[in-house]
Amino acid sequence: MKATIAVLPGDGIGPEVVGQATDLLSHIAAKYGHDFEFVEGLIGGIAIDETGAPLPPATVALCEASDAILLGAVGGPKWADPTASVQPERGLLELRQHFGLFANLRPVKTYPALVDHAPLRADLLRDVDILFVRELVSGIYFGARQEQGDGDDSYDTMRYSRDEVEQVANVAFRAAQGRRKKLCSVDKANVLASMRLWRRTVVEVHEEYDDVELEHLLVDAATMHLLTRPGSFDVIVAGNMFGDILSDEASVLAGSLGMLPSASLRADSFGLYEPVHGTAPDIAGQGLANPIGMFLSAAMLLRYSLGLEGEARAIEAAVDDALAAGLRTADIAGAGEKAVSTRDFAAAVKSRV
Ligand code: IPM
Ligand code: MG
Repeated sequence: MKATIAVLPGDGIGPEVVGQATDLLSHIAAKYGHDFEFVEGLIGGIAIDETGAPLPPATVALCEASDAILLGAVGGPKWADPTASVQPERGLLELRQHFGLFANLRPVKTYPALVDHAPLRADLLRDVDILFVRELVSGIYFGARQEQGDGDDSYDTMRYSRDEVEQVANVAFRAAQGRRKKLCSVDKANVLASMRLWRRTVVEVHEEYDDVELEHLLVDAATMHLLTRPGSFDVIVAGNMFGDILSDEASVLAGSLGMLPSASLRADSFGLYEPVHGTAPDIAGQGLANPIGMFLSAAMLLRYSLGLEGEARAIEAAVDDALAAGLRTADIAGAGEKAVSTRDFAAAVKSRV
């Protein structure tokens, strides 16, 4: 198959992990007889430096002409001045919003090879397999806001419409139907009006999915349940900000934030694929980055945008095999385990595909 993939490396470790991912995808293309064209664009801090904008129009245009977007990460200390008029993160938010990518899928699972030196007790981590469905283009990230520079008052607004909740709830219920048929909806319905609408709407949508067991958790309780009974969750659906927070928390279950992939989708096959981790400026350029979150994001791209399930599984299996064979990047190396570089880990995955 022929496909055009927009490649946006961004900042920090973004370019390192994206470079390994395009390499891996080229290897997949050669092996399975596909023709992938990669077109590179600017986003984030580097885009601000080079064009003044975190999402230049040329980047939007090349994404529009592509079948899918592969993105590294954006941001870093260089652009972190809170009084700056523009932040690198805006580029990512604009990109998600421009393409209407309302459903952000973040799978989290534990790897048998890693549970023994995870910060949580191994017996809690057995068989953890959770799919987060995070609403990505509304909520407090996109509600009315007032930026006051260095003034004394500013606000953000958490707002949801019934349609917005319905469409993300539908994605979550359908995902649960294809898995263990359990959905946990996270909200703060005891305090926030927008979250009461969220809960009411999820309950209504549930009527069409009576084979799925639905549970509601308030977000504060959810943070605790995620650590005390992680194995009991199947699909978790949450609004934009709560989903952001809970997915970072859940990365502890997988052993490292570097392990987690994500897909940001809308109703058709177009999607944006990026690891959940950020730019990790402290380790950028040193060959220490864990490429797994990026590789598994590339696998999701093959699965959801290109319909190449076998190829997606080949990447996932190669990652599993490399971990089972004892290969570790620094972030997941336990006491006494030797860590390999980003490049060596990537080569080990590639050779196993
Ligand atoms: C994420 C990130 C982003 C978010 C930032 C970089 C804007 O934390 O994708 O989880 O908050 O959505
Ligand atoms: Mg986040």
